[in-house]
Amino acid sequence: MPDIMDLCERSPAYVRAIAPYQPGKPITELARELGLAENSIVKLASNENPRGISPKALEAVKRALPELGRYPDGFELTQALSARLGVPAEQIVLGNGSNDVLELAGMAFLAPGCSAVYSQHAFAVYPLATQARGAQSLVTPAQDYGHDLEAMLAAIRPDTHVVFIANPNNPTGTMLTAAQLESFLRRAPKNVIVVLDEAYNEYLDPALRCPSIAWIASYPNLIVTRTFSKVYGLAGLRVGYAVCHPEVAALLNRVRQPFNVNNLALVAAIAALTDHDFLRESFDLNVAGMQQLLSGCKRLGIAWIPSYGNFVTIEIPRARGENAGQSQAGAVFQKLLRRGVIVRPLAGYAMPDHLRVSVGLPSENARFLDALEAVLKA
Ligand SMILES: Cc1ncc(COP(=O)(O)O)c(C=O)c1O
Repeated sequence: MPDIMDLCERSPAYVRAIAPYQPGKPITELARELGLAENSIVKLASNENPRGISPKALEAVKRALPELGRYPDGFELTQALSARLGVPAEQIVLGNGSNDVLELAGMAFLAPGCSAVYSQHAFAVYPLATQARGAQSLVTPAQDYGHDLEAMLAAIRPDTHVVFIANPNNPTGTMLTAAQLESFLRRAPKNVIVVLDEAYNEYLDPALRCPSIAWIASYPNLIVTRTFSKVYGLAGLRVGYAVCHPEVAALLNRVRQPFNVNNLALVAAIAALTDHDFLRESFDLNVAGMQQLLSGCKRLGIAWIPSYGNFVTIEIPRARGENAGQSQAGAVFQKLLRRGVIVRPLAGYAMPDHLRVSVGLPSENARFLDALEAVLKA
């Protein structure tokens, strides 16, 4: 039998060098650790819709259960998206979550010897999608925690095949304007794929949303990615999509697994797309919840990065006195856990003083604020 380490070393060095994605701590795990009931735990760590799945989508899932013996067929969801977005079906590529389409972009356009540009503090899947292909990451410094598009433009090299941009960005919540993005697209080399990740697009005030899909006609190097995991409430089903030029879509489809989106995700997404009441209520809940979190933080003297998503990143002041200057965010995260509140520490995003808090239901936001107050006072 080969030694397991010898075996693993046959995996390319660039794969072994990948830092694994750190998901939010699961409720079940914390409940087990603390000996608490699962329903007493508040999880504000993964930017899900706190209302869960829409009732229409749930009904569609129940109706589809008897058909689970069959392989999925993405035709109807693609048609529904085509009608909704006003683009031909051949411009849409479905993904197992939008993470999947980000990976497809990496698979189709990156290889050893290529590079990808993305920003410091940008979404964690961009390094994964880049490094898994053996491509080099060119990370530009952030500006006020957001993407510095001028620096990103300047970082593009002849071997750069992909630029990843998140708008709004996770975990910082920062937003780029349509004018900034279009100016970037106008000046970026035409042979560089620009992936514009709009996972939180539906949480933006409609006046702030970009005509990103219309841009594809002028910028065939643009791939727009969206998801059903956020406002649509389907994070656990895994469904997202890319919209791009048909030739680019054909490339993404070559590296896509044939049945990458499952039957239940497909029917739920079709139903969620037209559950207008659920979408409006979820949007309004987020606006009110964000207000609740921000006024609570203000009262506690906690600073935050202005956010355009369904989450906000707060700054925990460094220690004074004996441990002066030491970061306290990790300790605050642990103390919140002990009070049954899960948020997201951001040391892995090179933000050791910050915690990201998803906007929850009013009662969940209140639980978080109470726990934060108690932890800061202690
Ligand atoms: C910026 C951004 N892009 C993409 C995703 C991926 O979401 P999903 O794979 O669930 O569609 C997320 C999830 O948190 C995100 O924050």
